[in-house]
Order: sequence, then structure tokens, then C-alpha cells
Amino acid sequence: MTVVNDSDTPEQLEAFQARIDAGETIEPKDWMPAQYRKQLVRMISQHAHSEIVGMLPEGNWLTRAPSLRRKKILLAKIQDEGGHGLYLYCAAETLGVDRTELIDQLHAGKAKYSQIFNYPSLNWADIGVIGWLVDGAAIVNQTMLAKTSYGPYSRAMIRICKEENFHKKQGYELLAQMMEGTKDQQAMVQDAVNRWWWPSLMMFGPSDKDSPNSKVLLKWKVKRKTNDELRQRFINMTVPQANAIGVKLPDPDLQFDEKTKNWNFGEINWDEFWAVVKGHGPCNVERLEARRAAHDEGRWVREAAEAYAEKHSGIKKAA
Ligand code: 3HC
Repeated sequence: MTVVNDSDTPEQLEAFQARIDAGETIEPKDWMPAQYRKQLVRMISQHAHSEIVGMLPEGNWLTRAPSLRRKKILLAKIQDEGGHGLYLYCAAETLGVDRTELIDQLHAGKAKYSQIFNYPSLNWADIGVIGWLVDGAAIVNQTMLAKTSYGPYSRAMIRICKEENFHKKQGYELLAQMMEGTKDQQAMVQDAVNRWWWPSLMMFGPSDKDSPNSKVLLKWKVKRKTNDELRQRFINMTVPQANAIGVKLPDPDLQFDEKTKNWNFGEINWDEFWAVVKGHGPCNVERLEARRAAHDEGRWVREAAEAYAEKHSGIKKAA
């Protein structure tokens, strides 16, 4: 049921839906239902937070990369993720919110980000698996979002997807190399896949029947596919990739269905998903502490930038 804001008249809602149905792109200055704006702020801000928090598990291994080449690749990827966060905070700000307010909500534990980043990166194989599975899942989701009805979000996605493909390829290459290595290296990869596979499937959100936001997001073409459709697409793409490098996915129920051409898969542990979303994952506390500390340590940079901007452009930062 669409929550109608007092100021949204039935005529306005009807005209807006006609624009959406005609495949038009909605821009910041266009009229939009209050709930459309609210949903986009929710999704885009959570997406931006995910990019920034997502830098932490990989940052943990930057100083321990096994070669200069691997260190340079990982550094480039982590910098990309920071840039993705900034694009997305900019996209959120076109909807009338201020990134300071969004970041304060994150640091206060009042904002969601992808649950996947609350799992620990225990060894170097995790870096490969994060690239292959986590960025791989993000690509499936973000490729769909590149066609979202809101212009600034769609354009941010188009730019981000190009860089995500590099993220996934570098992770998959890392694993392929390790799988051609020693038995210990192969065991390290298999252990990392065992730990990250199911949380990667959870990234697409709850199953469609338990997804309260999907209905209105699909109606307004913010989402073009459902959570389950994207999850299935990711699994169908990933199983052959696992087979190609000799990795076994930790799901005994994985079975190819000749009729549907889908890989049927086992039950997802939704209790685990909701526990992590609600703050009880292995790294939730550590991740927010790290974000708050980084924000405090970076205060001088923000103040210097604001002072420079004020001096050279006369724009006084709102108190
Ligand atoms: N982690 C944390 N919370 C999640 C979640 C996840 N993986 N999946 C769903 N949720 C939350 C939703 O936010 C919602 O809570 P809210 O109403 O309080 O916000 C609730 O669970 C119910 O889920 P819904 O399916 O109704 O929510 P959505 O319709 O918003 O679908 C989504 C969830 C598919 C994640 C959608 O929000 C989306 O596509 N978001 C944009 C993409 C995104 O945020 N990706 C995160 C990963 S980014 C990344 O991986 C970076 C890459 O560089 C590695």
C-alpha cells in the first residue's frame, strides 16, 4: 500500500506513475512522491555506508599483501570503494539530505549497511573471495540498479559497475593462482569460500515474501528485479566459476535444474542474516568503532578543507 504523504495528490501520483511506466528518468528537480524520495534516501545512504564500511575488511590486509603487485591492486580497489561511497553520498544529497547527517546516523548505529561487511577477513584468501563473491554479488545488484528510475543513482551505478568488474576479476585471479598452489593454499581458499558463500547470498536481502520495500520499489522502477531473482542470477553465474577453479561451494543441495536452467540451492539461514543486520554479527561493533575513530582522526582534514573553501570562495560553512 503506497503511503500517501498529505501533499501528494492522487493526480500527482497518477502523473508520476505514468512517467515511470513510460520509462522516463526522474531528476532531482522533478516532482516526486514523498515516499519515492524517502525510499531513495534509505537505499542510497545504506549503499554509500556499505561502500565505506566495506573498505575495512580489505584494509586489514593491505600491509600484509604477498607482493607489491597485489598491494597495488588492493590499494586501488580500496580507494575505488571510498570513491563509490562519495558518489553515492552525492547522489543522496540530490534528494535534499546532508551527508553529515547520514554519516552521523551511521556512527550512532542508526543506519544500516550491507551485513556482509560484519564478517572478519581472516587471511589472504579472504581478499580473493571478497573480490570474487562480495563484489560479484554487488555487480549483479548494481547492474540492475544502473537502470533505476532515479537519474543520479543510475548514473552513479554506471560509473561504479565499471570499477566493480575490475574488483571481481582481481579477486577471482587471486584465487585461481592460489588454487594452482600448494595444498595448504587450496585449503585456505576452500575455507574462505565456506565462510563467505552463504553471507554473500544474503547480500541480496530477504526472500521476496519477506521484503517489505520491494513492492513499491518495483512499482516505481527503483528496483528492476526482485531480491530472489538477483540472488538466483548470482548463483547461476558463480557455480560454473567455482567449478572452473576447483572450488566446492558449501551447499549439498546445489543441483542444476535442466528445466529452469537454474541452480537450485539450499535453505538460507535467515536467523543469522537478521542477527547480523540487527548488530550481532562477528564484527559489527569493531566496524563502527573503526569508522568513528577514522572520522575523528580526519576532523582536521575536513576543517582545513572548509577553511580553505571559506577563504577562497567566501562560502561560510553552516554552523
Ligand atoms: N544488509 C543489511 N540490511 C539489509 C540487507 C543486507 N544485505 N538486505 C536487506 N536489508 C534490510 C533492508 O535495508 C530493509 O531494512 P530497512 O527497511 O530498515 O532499510 C530490510 O532489510 C528489508 O529488506 P528489503 O528487501 O525490504 O529492502 P530493500 O528492498 O531495500 O532491498 C537491498 C535490500 C537489495 C540491499 C537494496 O536495498 C539494494 O539494492 N540496495 C542498494 C545496493 C546496496 O546497498 N548494496 C550493498 C552492497 S554494496 C557493496 O557490496 C560494495 C561493493 O563495492 C563491494
